[in-house]
Amino acid sequence: MIKLLTIIGARPQIIKAAAISRAIKNHFSDRIEEKILHTGQHYDDNMSKVFFDELGIPAPDYNLGVGSGKHGEQTAKIIVGVEEVLLSEHFDGVIVYGDTNSTLAAAVAASKLHIPLFHIEAGLRSFNMTMPEEINRIVCDQLSSILFAPTETAIDNLRKEGFMTSPAKFAGGKGRLVVNSGDVMYDNSMYFAAIAEEKSSILKENNLRAGKYILTTIHRPANTDSPERLTSIIAALISIAEANGEGLVFPLHPRTRNLLAKNLRPDVYEKLNSSPKVKILPPASFFDIIVLEKNAHIIMTDSGGVQKESFFFERPCVILRGETEWVEIVTHGAGIIADADGDTIKEAYNKLSGQSVSFPRLFGDGNAATKILDTILEYLA
Ligand code: UD1
Repeated sequence: MIKLLTIIGARPQIIKAAAISRAIKNHFSDRIEEKILHTGQHYDDNMSKVFFDELGIPAPDYNLGVGSGKHGEQTAKIIVGVEEVLLSEHFDGVIVYGDTNSTLAAAVAASKLHIPLFHIEAGLRSFNMTMPEEINRIVCDQLSSILFAPTETAIDNLRKEGFMTSPAKFAGGKGRLVVNSGDVMYDNSMYFAAIAEEKSSILKENNLRAGKYILTTIHRPANTDSPERLTSIIAALISIAEANGEGLVFPLHPRTRNLLAKNLRPDVYEKLNSSPKVKILPPASFFDIIVLEKNAHIIMTDSGGVQKESFFFERPCVILRGETEWVEIVTHGAGIIADADGDTIKEAYNKLSGQSVSFPRLFGDGNAATKILDTILEYLA
């Protein structure tokens, strides 16, 4: 029996971890014992607990309760907390997800203790070094024993950075593995799509008609922290909704909620709160967001996860950033990078509204979690 520690902290990681926990329960329970450590980076119930409940993930064995803070402060607290846990109990390996401060901190703590580190969602790059996530993912990839890349693009990035020929040796003289595992988020979206349709009443509760609304999410610091960008994006979204008779459905991340009044130009703030087309919602549960995504006419977002889910559910997507890690969405014409420019956002909406788009299978076959666990077992054997 091998013992793995899954380390999560932010909302999307809880969702990704569900795919691994489910695969362990269904296929590996005689060979793998999993414990879960929650860093507490996200702590509001609707950013954390609701996902454990809905997705059937066991409650965390450890919760560091670090909460919000400056990057250095938050990251440092997690390093200290994870190190303590790793010294108090033996683990054969640590699994981390994505690119948050929790990922970076867990990677530093585990690798310094020579515990094999498995990075799920390795190899993604925006090449924008001002994004905290870019820094986190680059460092985490360097420290990982196995890099589980979700796409061929991610594999290519790692190849260009020399990972395939890296002479790095880890504990026991073991080398590094790079594997195209497919995307655990695709596993989840496929697994939960039908269940979500049955369980969620979000459309009914909000009087939403399928195909008749735009779904938007905005939470990246580059957008929320800049009055110009936030104002430009939100003004464009409201004007598109009003001009086209569409609803604008906007589940609000707490970071965004806290900054709207401060950073939006007053007339746009007023419009956001008074337009009959705008529906502001609290952060959505996973089932609710799946249903909102599947039934949207179009999705406009700065979230990586929501970009991908729009592709999984075959909805076109306007990307409210200057670049994306999920470039295949753009090369296949299913998404357009519009950044924060109002006119470009409107053009992207018009273009994607009026054309039929192809959605090939680029994110694996829905069994990424099983492939990941098989690879880990082989590596640790
Ligand atoms: C983090 C990740 C980002 C990921 C996102 C998903 C980093 C650097 N960023 O960004 O990659 O896409 O999570 O949501 O790790 N807050 C609450 N309640 C919560 C959580 C946050 O009120 O439960 C508020 C706090 O005001 C906090 C702010 O949101 O200061 C930002 O939270 P933080 O975890 O620092 O980063 P995110 O923006 O959520």
